[in-house]
Amino acid sequence: MRCFRPWVSRKVDQVDKAVVERLQERLQLCRLIRPDDANIAGNTHGGTLLKMIEEAGSIICTRHCNTQGGDRCVAALARVEKTEFLYPMFIGDVAHVSAEITYASKHSVEVQVTVMSENILTGVKKLTNKAALWYVPFSLANVEKIVEVPPIKYDSPEQEEEGRKRYEAQKMDRLQTKMRNEAVLPPAPEPEEHTVAFSQSSLIHLVGPSDCTLHDFVHGGVTMKMMDEVAGITAARHCNTNIVTACVDAINFHRKIKKGSVVTVTGRMMFTSNKSMEIEVFVDAASVMEPDHGKYRAVTAVFTYISLDKYHKPLPVPPLKVQGEEEEKRFKEGEARYLQNKTRRMASKDVELAAQRHC
Ligand code: COA
Repeated sequence: MRCFRPWVSRKVDQVDKAVVERLQERLQLCRLIRPDDANIAGNTHGGTLLKMIEEAGSIICTRHCNTQGGDRCVAALARVEKTEFLYPMFIGDVAHVSAEITYASKHSVEVQVTVMSENILTGVKKLTNKAALWYVPFSLANVEKIVEVPPIKYDSPEQEEEGRKRYEAQKMDRLQTKMRNEAVLPPAPEPEEHTVAFSQSSLIHLVGPSDCTLHDFVHGGVTMKMMDEVAGITAARHCNTNIVTACVDAINFHRKIKKGSVVTVTGRMMFTSNKSMEIEVFVDAASVMEPDHGKYRAVTAVFTYISLDKYHKPLPVPPLKVQGEEEEKRFKEGEARYLQNKTRRMASKDVELAAQRHC
């Protein structure tokens, strides 16, 4: 067909190019939430959403980083900014995930992702998450080589400037935040109820091909799903009720995890307020091929969980019984973060209310 009518082919090519360019800038994923995405009360796991968010981010970012000649590359997740779960998503809802590249530095890309839930029986749509992720592209030929990111087009100089400020802010935050490198000891036998040891939980996983990128390293979303699972088990053991993820603090992915590694993900209760629980999660990886197993810490994060009653209303949680100086210190750290987050949330609610009144 193209050979006989070259003018048609040219027109189609032009249309194709415009469509392809538009598709390149944004990405939409959409899927039905199934029973295995949710807990026994029907609430979608935070980890399921984090995995979908990361999938969208890694596709749009890898695609963008391969738009120029040179090394083919795969984008790896380097950081997720603090992410809140604003509204629950249930089995039977449709999750709409939209991703957009919003800033590019020389070697990193910021992707902003929004998630909406749609009840296809009632037509009700709700914004459930807004997340910002940073990716770094690695050469497909040499996984140690970080390649340069092709520049992106900004709508205005102000938009570029805002992006640069976010880039500088996360860089500063990374410099100030040290990864928690302490050993996580197994809990003592028969711990007392509501102590840290009582709910401490671990999950051990052998990294297989379906967990990995084209580089044979674990997808960031797979790791976050396991982290959320462990944090959820820890929270449920503490309060024995239906629990949901409320938020995840900023996560930096320090080290890659290779296919064939054994990953140990541990959740440890750090702090409880009246109606929330803070759980720190440690991801340790070890190669079963190396003689000394080369165990290393790959990621750490703090998850906040809320306990819900059968009407999905927040319930008070049992206070954490801290034992010893270390637990006391971590509790105080958690408390300071909780108060800071609460103040920030109140301030942003006030701004929203003021904006609504102004409208
Ligand atoms: N968040 C956001 N960007 C990050 C980052 C982070 N945590 N760490 C590094 N970067 C960016 C830097 O800003 C830099 O970009 P720039 O030059 O445009 O400023 C780029 O990455 C390279 O930084 P560099 O200092 O050379 O790299 P590094 O030695 O600190 O390594 C990673 C950074 C991300 C490559 C490394 O920590 C890593 O491999 N992490 C694991 C990635 C992964 O496997 N993800 C899935 C985990 S399950």
